[in-house]
Amino acid sequence: LSDLVPIAKVDELAAGEGKVIQVRNLEVALFNVAGAFYALENTCCHRGGPLGDGTLKSNSVTCPWHMWEFELATGACVNSPGDRVRTYDVVVDGNTVMIRL
Ligand code: FES
Repeated sequence: LSDLVPIAKVDELAAGEGKVIQVRNLEVALFNVAGAFYALENTCCHRGGPLGDGTLKSNSVTCPWHMWEFELATGACVNSPGDRVRTYDVVVDGNTVMIRL
């Protein structure tokens, strides 16, 4: 069973920005890329760096600690094939951003 959980308001997160959100016992990095929202596990699978503070590009985020780069859509690591972080489905309803847990 999966739940849609509200985690943010659309107008809290400007295009090109990311933020870290605590939801239940998880830390989720939420990004707004030109109005499209992506949610990934915040904890980098390399050494645990905060992806929510990473450098955002149109389809990836780069960890601020050692520059591993992850695809926003899949969580796949670009420069270390086979490594990945978890992603969450995002649903936007009006001004509410929800993720599926
Ligand atoms: S902790 Fe993210 S690249 Fe090392």
